[in-house]
Amino acid sequence: MFFHAIYNMQSQIKDPALAGQGKLNLELAERNMGALMKIRERFLRERPLEGVRIGMALHVTKETGILVRTLRDGGATVAITGCNPLSTQDDVAAALAEEEGVFVYGYKGETNEDYYKYMNAVIDFAPQITIDDGCDLVTELVTKRQDKLEGVIGGCEETTTGVIRLKAMEKEGVLKFPMVAVNDNKTKHLMDNYYGTGQSTLDGIIRASNVLFAGKTVVVAGYGSCGKGVALRAKGMGANVIVTEVDPFPALQARMDGFRVMKMEDALPEGDIYITVTGNKHVIRVEHMEKMKNGAILANSGHFDVEIDVVGLGNAASKRRVRPYFDEYLFPDGHSVFLAGEGRLVNLAAAEGHPSEVMSLSFCGQALACEWIYKNRSELGPKVYVLPDEIDTQISWLQLKVMGISIDELTDEQKRYLASWNEGTA
Ligand code: NAD
Ligand code: ADE
Repeated sequence: MFFHAIYNMQSQIKDPALAGQGKLNLELAERNMGALMKIRERFLRERPLEGVRIGMALHVTKETGILVRTLRDGGATVAITGCNPLSTQDDVAAALAEEEGVFVYGYKGETNEDYYKYMNAVIDFAPQITIDDGCDLVTELVTKRQDKLEGVIGGCEETTTGVIRLKAMEKEGVLKFPMVAVNDNKTKHLMDNYYGTGQSTLDGIIRASNVLFAGKTVVVAGYGSCGKGVALRAKGMGANVIVTEVDPFPALQARMDGFRVMKMEDALPEGDIYITVTGNKHVIRVEHMEKMKNGAILANSGHFDVEIDVVGLGNAASKRRVRPYFDEYLFPDGHSVFLAGEGRLVNLAAAEGHPSEVMSLSFCGQALACEWIYKNRSELGPKVYVLPDEIDTQISWLQLKVMGISIDELTDEQKRYLASWNEGTA
């Protein structure tokens, strides 16, 4: 492990020699993040974040790199660490660490101890705005680093699980500053969670295992924004999809979308590939894995590595690494199951996460949320906020423009009709 010291803050990354590849990947991401690049151009002109310190715990990918550059061009100084021990792209981390006004901490495969050490390095930087994916940074701040709470203006949260944690904090009165649930933008959860997780989860499983999806029975646990995308893409690749749920409405939706819906227990004799995307704990337990087909593949794409009981699996079966991010667990009865990405989000552990095009939309939300918090700082309290609808709509327009798509406009007559009640059956 090589730790590279740059500036006084001393970025800590795997290997500075990887920066050349990182720059090429960042260049590629810029080409495919048109909407975010438009915001970046405006930020460079208007400098809405002049002098603001932004502390981030996000997956350190080429897409996040373009968000970092956008905030930096908006006038901010940025310190970033990862939000998962397996998701940092070391080449991107190296390239970003060379940039002025950016401090980077993390490496792919970091220990838990280093994960929290780097999280604290970002907190030592005394961020005024936080950006989290999963809420570990805010949790660390409110529980262990209250010394740095005073200077925090507010923060943004990227994912469903993080928003759930923030709302629980708000309810218990633990949240000390305003947080924007960027995940709740339509241009986030209906795009990133759906199209992004749909594609990149399969990408991660395929890179880890090289399995053929056609003809397989794929069990998708959870039919929310992510599960819908995963089920759709697995079907598109020729798999037979079974959905498991705990909520009757998404269960019904899954059935109406043409999938079989049943209890996990009942899916066990059939499943070849299991994918969890619930945001919940121990959805696949040892009692399930004991009954799975020999050779079944398991993967998780939910935020934390608790959806599959990996600890229980390790106690019940013996493990051997077959290839990177693909482990076989042999049970005493002679059958085995394979676990992709160590049970961490497989799309980022075993692949590169969502493609740049879809992350562009999510990160337009992050950049505009930072601007919104900073502008409205005197009016916001310690609550979880959703961005005003106009900002979400603005992101949709930007993306349509980048894609060269024009849509119809309401005529005056249509506007009047939609605002009226007195025109009925003719
Ligand atoms: P969501 O709330 O829209 O959907 C989750 C669904 O899981 C719900 O319908 C819920 O009823 C269901 N569920 C809960 N417990 C279950 C159980 N025991 N068995 C079966 N179903 C169960 O959430 P989402 O936006 O789809 O996100 C799901 C997870 O994925 C979260 O942890 C989120 O943070 C994460 N996420 C990951 C990525 C990624 O890049 N891998 C991207 C976005 C979100
Ligand atoms: N979450 C999912 N995919 C991602 C990506 N490519 N970059 C950052 N966060 C992500």
